[in-house]
Amino acid sequence: MKKTEIIVPIEVLAYDELTPQESQLVAEAREATFRSYAPYSKFKVGAAIQLSNGEIVSGSNQENAAYPSGTCAERTTCYYAHSRYPQARFEAIAIAARTENDEFQATPISPCGACRQALLEYEVIGGAPIKVLLVGAEQVYRLPSVVNLLPLAFTEF
Ligand code: THU
Repeated sequence: MKKTEIIVPIEVLAYDELTPQESQLVAEAREATFRSYAPYSKFKVGAAIQLSNGEIVSGSNQENAAYPSGTCAERTTCYYAHSRYPQARFEAIAIAARTENDEFQATPISPCGACRQALLEYEVIGGAPIKVLLVGAEQVYRLPSVVNLLPLAFTEF
């Protein structure tokens, strides 16, 4: 028997260690939490995607009374970004969340499984890694690629 393991590289950065472009993306993800519609969970999530054409698209989670049919911020954003700019690659995504007390999450949140799969699809068709910025109140986790969020991913059939 052989053993193997997959290492997830995570850089933990203070806000002043981000590049100007990363800072802007983080700010847009934070801002998007204020446009969340989350009356059921009261968990407000925002995402912002940097596109290769220079645009930034942001979005938030949107819930409804049939609770499971709502959409996470990450999928709201990636589906809108690709439907609005189908030719543009995704270069980076930032994700932020605020809890019921309205404060930003101290520890960064990480996308759910369905959102990881959706984001991976855009990484594959874009042909280059999408940088992932998981935004906490005081620090940001930076991962080089969506692959790091979804080891042993199912990518094609
Ligand atoms: N949610 C997101 O928008 N993104 C995540 O990464 C995790 C969860 C949303 C879904 C639902 O509206 C609320 O947060 C609580 O799960």
